[in-house]
Parts: sequence; structure tokens; C-alpha cells
Amino acid sequence: MHEELAALLAAMPDAQPETVAGRPFWRGHLEGRPVVAVLSRIGKVAAATTAAVLLDRYGAPAVLFTGVAGGLGAGVSVGDVVVARELLQHDMDASPLFPRHQVPLTGLTRFAADAPLSEALAGAAAEVLADLPAHLPPEARAEFALAGARLHRGLVLSGDRFVATAAESAALRAELPDALAVEMEGAAVAQVCHDWGVPFAAVRTISDRADDAAHTDFGRFVARVASPFSAAIVRRCLTRL
Ligand code: ADE
Repeated sequence: MHEELAALLAAMPDAQPETVAGRPFWRGHLEGRPVVAVLSRIGKVAAATTAAVLLDRYGAPAVLFTGVAGGLGAGVSVGDVVVARELLQHDMDASPLFPRHQVPLTGLTRFAADAPLSEALAGAAAEVLADLPAHLPPEARAEFALAGARLHRGLVLSGDRFVATAAESAALRAELPDALAVEMEGAAVAQVCHDWGVPFAAVRTISDRADDAAHTDFGRFVARVASPFSAAIVRRCLTRL
């Protein structure tokens, strides 16, 4: 999201933009490491294009993806953080030619996140969640009732749909019972990184429960909670690598 990128750029004083495919790619340093920071844009195709540029043009040796997601799993609440172990496109369906959810010609339905990179991301996220007062002002913690924000690790679903009805999230849960969260890009970026053979990891802050109230306070949550979380997690992750 824009707000997450802005929080990272604030910590990259030497960042310089270069526009490719209509997107500004910000080259600079974060925690002393050379990085390229970019907004993925929304949806699988946009995010795949962005990822392909990062890999092909900038030769990124690893990709870290941050953002927000709707919680699907039991106990995955607003303010919690999910680090993906696997990612799946819930709207991929080339059946009967290929099994449902399988990405044609890859033989894969689930794309695995890179284990060491995900460990670093999860370690960073756990540290941030263990010290909420250092990252969020008391008003934000109170507004979103974040006292006990938790870290989850597992399956993240992606699809070109903002899931905003209880019926749809129930259908996703019934179809993919181990899914923790749903968003609109991660599995696409995971697929692109798989094709390039580049390690990928993803972290998502839960902004809603993918139900009829999913749109409420979305923008406010991103600005006040997800953006400081993402910046702190990515910065800590870089220091762990
Ligand atoms: N990103 C954040 N919340 C989401 C939802 N409910 N559906 C899809 N993407 C999301």
C-alpha cells in the first residue's frame, strides 16, 4: 500500500526513483543494504509485472512482500500478522484440463515461500508484536483493540477479488480449510519468483476478517497500523539476514 511504501522511503534518505512500466522503483539503502522499494499495485497481474521488473531489470537477489490481508483462519484477528509458508491462487481454475487451483504447466497449486527468508521475517515480526508500544501510539492500539496481536504462519490465498462478504470467506474456508488469510497479490509474486529461482517471503497485517465489515476503517487501519508494522518488520528482517 502507498502508506507502507512511504514509511519505508522515510528510512531510505538516498532513495531515487526510476519509472519503469509506469511504476516508480526507488533505489537506495535500507539498514545499510542496497534495496529497490516499489508499490506492487493491486491485483495479481499488476503485482506480477512489478515483480518481473524487480527480478529482470534490477536483478533482485530476493523479494520481500508486505501488505494487508483479510483474516480467514480461526483466531486470525485484525492487527495480527501472517507470515506465509505457502501461497495459492484461490481463483485459478483451469479444470477439467488441470486440477482446480493448479497453475497450468507448473504442476503446482501451492508456491512455497523461501524458508530462511521467512524465518527472518517471522523473527522480525515476533519482535515487533512483542513490543507494540514501541511501534504504535496508544490511540492506535486502543482504536483497533490491538493489545494481544499475534503472529501466524501458514497458507495465504490470493485472488483478483476483495473478499467482503461472510458468505465468500466461508466458501474459501470450506474449500481451503488451512488458509489463514486472503489478499490479492502474494501468490502471483511467489509464482514469478519461482520462475526466476529467486527467494521470496511475504508478511501481511490483518486489516479485516474478509466479511461484510471488511471495508470499514480500511484506509485508517493501513495508515495507522499496517504501515508502521510493515516498515518495522522489514527493517528488522534486513538486520537479521
Ligand atoms: N486485503 C485486505 N483485506 C482483503 C480482503 N478482505 N480481500 C482481499 N484482499 C484484502
